[in-house]
Amino acid sequence: MSQAPIDRGRWKTRIGFILAASGSAIGLGNIVFFSANAYKFGGGAFYLPYLLALFAIGIPVMMLEFGLGSKTGRAFPEALHIVAGKKGEFVGWWGILNAGFLTMYYITILSWVLGMLIGSFGALWQPTMAVPAFDIPEGVLPTATAYFFQMLTTAKPLIFVVIVWALNVLIIRRGVQSIEAVTKVFVPLMWIFMAILIVRGVTLPNGTQGVYLLFTPNFDVMKDPAVWQGAFSQIFFTLSLGFGTMVAYASYLPKNSDLAGNSFVTSFLNCGFEYLAGLAVFSVLFAFAIVPQASTLSMMFFIVPQGIAQMPAGVQLFGIVFFLLLLIAGLTSSVSLIEGIVSALRDKFGWARGKTIAVAAGIGVIGSCMFALPQVVDPGLENNGTIGLTLLDLIDHWVFSYGLLAIGLAQCILVGWVLGASKIRAYINENSSTRIGPWFDVLIKFVIPAALAFILGYSLYNEFQNGLYGMAYNENYREGAEFMRAAPVAVLMVWFLTSTFVALLLTKRGNYAQES
Ligand code: TRP
Repeated sequence: MSQAPIDRGRWKTRIGFILAASGSAIGLGNIVFFSANAYKFGGGAFYLPYLLALFAIGIPVMMLEFGLGSKTGRAFPEALHIVAGKKGEFVGWWGILNAGFLTMYYITILSWVLGMLIGSFGALWQPTMAVPAFDIPEGVLPTATAYFFQMLTTAKPLIFVVIVWALNVLIIRRGVQSIEAVTKVFVPLMWIFMAILIVRGVTLPNGTQGVYLLFTPNFDVMKDPAVWQGAFSQIFFTLSLGFGTMVAYASYLPKNSDLAGNSFVTSFLNCGFEYLAGLAVFSVLFAFAIVPQASTLSMMFFIVPQGIAQMPAGVQLFGIVFFLLLLIAGLTSSVSLIEGIVSALRDKFGWARGKTIAVAAGIGVIGSCMFALPQVVDPGLENNGTIGLTLLDLIDHWVFSYGLLAIGLAQCILVGWVLGASKIRAYINENSSTRIGPWFDVLIKFVIPAALAFILGYSLYNEFQNGLYGMAYNENYREGAEFMRAAPVAVLMVWFLTSTFVALLLTKRGNYAQES
C-alpha cells in the first residue's frame, strides 16, 4: 500500500525540541511516582541503582531513540520496520499499544488531578468531611482522602476525563507546531511552580530531615533485584522511553541535529527536576511527620495534600500550585504519548491529522472513562476501593514493570544487532557536539539487554512463584463484589492478548511505502 507522503511537520528551534522532549519526560512520574518509589525502596538506597540506571541505560537508550527517529524520519513502528522488517514493526506496534493503555490511565489520573485542583480552591481544606454515600461519618478519613472518595462516588470524574482529553486534542491538533508553542509556556512554568514548593518545603521546621532520608544510602537493599527492577522501570518511565514517544519526537527533527547533546540535556533536565521534586515532597512529609505511603496514587492524592493542609500559612495557594503543577506537567507528557500513537497511525495509513486524532481520542476517552468508573466497591481497602482504581493499579503493574522493559530489551536487540549499534552511533556522531565512543555499542548490544533480560526473568519467576500481583488484596473484596477477585487474571490477559493480537493485525495490514 503506497501513499502520498504526508506532511509530518518540523520543530522550529532546538530549544523548542528540548522543551517539548523534557516536557514529555517531566510528568507525574517525576513528581509522585519517583517519591513513592524512592520511599518504597528505602530512600537513599534507591538513588545508586537509579543513577546507575540513568547512565548505563537511560541516556544510551535515549540516544538510540533519538537516533532511530531522526535517521528514519518515522514514528516507532515504521522506524523499526525500516531497521528490521516485519518483526521490527511488530515490536513497534506492541510498544504503541502499551503506550495506548498508559495514555488511557494517565489521563484518568490527570482527570482526578483536575478534580483535586478544583477542590483546592476551598473544599479540600475543610477540617473534616463526611462521605455520606458510604455512611462514613465526618472525621474518620483525613479531608483529602474523604474528598477524593466523595468525588469518586459521583460521575464528575467522567466529565473531567472528557475535559482533559479535550485539552490534549487542543494542544496536539497542529502537531509539533502547537505542541512546541504550548510547551514553551508550560515547561518554564513547571520549573517556577516547583521552585515555589521546594523553598516552602525545606524552610519548614524539620523540612531538611526529608532531604537526609533521600540521600542516606543503604547498601543492603541493593541485593534485592526488586530494587533494580524498580530503578530500571522508573528510568524508562520518567525519560519517556520504550513506547515510541521519543522516537516520534525525534522524527520531527531536522537532519543536522545534535542528537547526543539533546539526549544529555533532556535526561539531565528530567532527572534534575525529579530529584528536586523528591526534595519538595519529602521535606513537606517530614515537616509534618507524615508516613509516606508506597502507593503512588495515595501519595499524590492523600499524603501530600495532608501535608499542605498543615502548613502555617498559604494552604490554599500551595495546594493550587501543587495540583496545577501536576496538571500541566501531566499534560505535556500525555500529549507526547498521544503524538507517538497518532504519528505511528499516520505513517502507516496516511490519514489526515484530524481524522487520526479523532480515532485515537475516541478510543482513548472510552478507555479513560473505564478507569474512572465511579463505583466504589470498598473504601476500607487501602487504595483500591473502587473498580476503576483497581483496574488502573493492575494494568499499571503490567505496563510499567514489564511492558516498558520488554520493549526496551527488544529495541536494543533490533537496533544493536540487526541494524548494528555502530551504524546508529555513526549516524548520531555525524552532527553531535560530543562524540559517543564504542562504549555505546557495548551497552546497547550486551549490557542493557542482559540487565533487562535478567530483571524481567527474575520478576516473572517471582510473580508466578509468590502469587500474581493483586491477588492478595482482591481476596478482601466483600460480598457483592466477588467478581473483582478475578480481576488480576483478567487484566493480565486483556493487556497481553490485546497488545499481541492487535500488533499482529496492524503489522499484517499492508506495507509502508517503499523507503529509501
Ligand atoms: N515521562 C512521563 C512521566 O514521567 C510519562 C511518559 C510520557 C511516558 N511518555 C512516555 C512513560 C512514554 C513511558 C513511555 O510522567
